[in-house]
Amino acid sequence: MRDGGGEAHLRLGVNIDHVATIRNARGGRVPDPVRAARLAAAAGADGITAHLREDRRHIRDEDIARLMSEIDLPLNLEMAATEEMLAIALRHKPHAACIVPERREERTTEGGLDAAGQFAHLAPIVGRLGEAGIRVSLFIEADPRQFDAARALGAPVVEIHTGRYCDLHNDGEFGPRDRELVRIAEAARYGRSIGLEVHAGHGLAFDTVEPVAAIPELKELNIGHFLIGEAIFVGLEASIREMRRCMDVGRAAVRA
Ligand code: PXP
Repeated sequence: MRDGGGEAHLRLGVNIDHVATIRNARGGRVPDPVRAARLAAAAGADGITAHLREDRRHIRDEDIARLMSEIDLPLNLEMAATEEMLAIALRHKPHAACIVPERREERTTEGGLDAAGQFAHLAPIVGRLGEAGIRVSLFIEADPRQFDAARALGAPVVEIHTGRYCDLHNDGEFGPRDRELVRIAEAARYGRSIGLEVHAGHGLAFDTVEPVAAIPELKELNIGHFLIGEAIFVGLEASIREMRRCMDVGRAAVRA
């Protein structure tokens, strides 16, 4: 798998988990998430993201093996900080591993990782992933305390949780969603100032991605659920291409 993207380019990581969710609903082989990853590459994705959950509710172990061997894009493996997932990451050596909090009963990743509170638990895991040449990312809230913890842990990358921003709505000129966007932008700036590479993701859609893409410190967005849902209506390539276009519009505002 090659490394993707240049400095000014805002990379798009396409999360294919929910192609596997649909496959697993019938227990067979279709739709195939690896085929989705191939299409994502053709549509301009810079990377593929997949979350191997403890309960294997979407991506399965053999999907990770196939993504590594059959797809010519960097794989970002989302994983809980457990010994089982660490062993899997060390076996496959994906380009990146994004450590996420995981609770069995949650529908999706709810909230960021408490990197500060779980420092002692995370330190050896981040260390072993890093030693294996895997680029470690921590999925955290836009909170400077968590950024400081990520840096102290030696993680080169953080991913800011954009779920709250996407769920909020503006009730006036400068509403709750705008305030959350400012918090994300300030956190991204702080992250860069302490030497972290900053990514963002969760819940992003065509109507929420542009202002996030306009945050110049961000290097990558990881997007899944909306893209796969939109693909039902327009096809996966068209869905990804439109997301890419929205991101480019947002990024162009930075350079203007
Ligand atoms: N980033 C991380 C760390 C995630 O856990 C997820 C969801 O798996 C995403 C990005 C993508 O979120 P969504 O599927 O809502 O676009």
